[in-house]
Amino acid sequence: MCGIVGVLGSNEVAPILVEALKRLEYRGYDSAGIATLNDGVLDRRRAVGKLVNLSDLLVHDPLAGKSGIGHTRWATHGAPSVKNAHPHRAGNVAVVHNGIIENYRELRAELAAEGIQFSTDTDTETVALLTELYLSQGNDPIAAAYKTLARLEGAFALAFLFDGNDDLIIAARKGSPLAIGHGDGEMYVGSDAIALAPLTDRITYLEEGDRAVVTRQGVTIHDGNGKLANRAVKKIKLTSASIDKAGHRHFMAKEIAEQPEVIGDTIRHYLPSGDDMVNLPGDGVDFTKVQRLTMVACGTAYYACLTAKYWFEQIARLPVEVDVASEFRYREPPITEGTLALFVSQSGETADTLAALRYCRDKADQIVSVINVPESSIARESDLALPILAGVEIGVASTKAFTCQLTVLLMLAIKAAADRGELDPETMADHVAALRGLPAILNVALDQNDTIKAAAQRLSEARDVLFLGRGQMYPLALEGALKLKEISYIHAEAYASGELKHGPIALIDKHMPVVVMAPRDTLFDKTVSNMQEVMARRGKVMLISDDRGISEASEGVWETIRMPHIHTTLAPILYAIPAQLLAYHTAVAKGTDVDQPRNLAKSVTVE
Ligand code: F6R
Repeated sequence: MCGIVGVLGSNEVAPILVEALKRLEYRGYDSAGIATLNDGVLDRRRAVGKLVNLSDLLVHDPLAGKSGIGHTRWATHGAPSVKNAHPHRAGNVAVVHNGIIENYRELRAELAAEGIQFSTDTDTETVALLTELYLSQGNDPIAAAYKTLARLEGAFALAFLFDGNDDLIIAARKGSPLAIGHGDGEMYVGSDAIALAPLTDRITYLEEGDRAVVTRQGVTIHDGNGKLANRAVKKIKLTSASIDKAGHRHFMAKEIAEQPEVIGDTIRHYLPSGDDMVNLPGDGVDFTKVQRLTMVACGTAYYACLTAKYWFEQIARLPVEVDVASEFRYREPPITEGTLALFVSQSGETADTLAALRYCRDKADQIVSVINVPESSIARESDLALPILAGVEIGVASTKAFTCQLTVLLMLAIKAAADRGELDPETMADHVAALRGLPAILNVALDQNDTIKAAAQRLSEARDVLFLGRGQMYPLALEGALKLKEISYIHAEAYASGELKHGPIALIDKHMPVVVMAPRDTLFDKTVSNMQEVMARRGKVMLISDDRGISEASEGVWETIRMPHIHTTLAPILYAIPAQLLAYHTAVAKGTDVDQPRNLAKSVTVE
């Protein structure tokens, strides 16, 4: 989604703004722009497409000045075009915005009644025009911005820059995250700490409703009630190194390769060596009191929940419901006594997941989140936030966050089983030993990279691909199909293997590759029957299985991908790796933009 930066600096600001915007590219965008103040004079440049277009424009038509704001836009209202790109300017003010102004039609009508003309199709322009109107009525910039903010409904992070005011940025947050960075005689604003990482490691996160007056001397923050607010300055650990490709061609490749290491860290965090009990932070969760688990998330995080449903039900015998946040939030589901509501989100800012959490706020017994960004809204609004410790994930397609989510959810299911008396010590020790051995097995899976690359080359010629899985491999099939379609743009669908005969089998012909994810477990023979049905109709089966599975069932299959043998419970975490590598190499073979696939955003802060 849109990215915001702002700098009150001591050097020429345009290159610094563009560099900061580059660090926000991972969020997804379709146009970009900056505005600066040169001797107090406001000016801006905007360009459609990648940031390189904005950089080129700035070479031919530079912007001087030491104060400025910048923006990467992910279109919501109005097509990607120069006129719709931010910063939006009205007279003496320029504005950058992330989110949606829900009452913009009403505000437009009001401005039109004043005889004010519009030059864009965006909701954001109303913010600039309204501020300019208040300025023209004699308000100073701070009063004009604050009056404007009081009129806005919806979700937003905003930064304002004013003509004639070299030492002022006004920033506001309601619904979309925004951070203030502290430098030496310089101050910054950014959508997240990643944007500001090379500039400062001292960050203040604005809270819901906060508005901030930023000058080179520091920041004054008021809360939503207009009261002076004292927000902490946090020293963050993010380094420039944690957001570079470390020699890989793409962030996605780096993040796939990092999985053994980050999963090892996650396991050690919750299962310190020498301890056979899962440790949760704070007061943890007492699963003896939990009667039902409601899990809510979007996209890949939703598939992590679907996988975990098998674990909570089978290992802990706990009834589980799983829903996508955008459906859950409007369905008004009854939340009965004894419900633990669990929200899974990499970014911790997904608008629908956050709204679903808020729906459960006074209804569920406890609200727990599984998140990657500890300062995120979802983490802060939970009773208990469980970090997945995946490190920064830049590739838009989630990889290491998914497997770290799975790892935390499995440990939580083991804890639930132990609390509920469903695990004898021997089985518990078996699960713990298997978890501790997981990183080494993941490394063996990564060694299959070249085989998977060759298989992907063949897959890249397909127009459609089916994925099949049974039991806990069904959500993995869904995740495999999602990964493939989002980065290679090949149409892919996933079905529970048993559903094949109930419709999708009609699609099978000699052009249709069918990826079957099937470790040699108790359901294997049933999945093999479904594979036979595909091959009988000349469908091309790509079987991902272990040694035993491949030796028993590879006759007649198109491609095989060999995984190491693994404890059955952990198979979904292992099989995520070939699913990710298959999507990655297919996308590379097709020449698509792997890290920033078209139309997608990393952090979906609008519904
Ligand atoms: C797919 C992907 C998305 C996210 C979804 C939820 O690769 O990354 O489907 O999983 O947008 O995002 P978070 O986890 O940030 O709530």
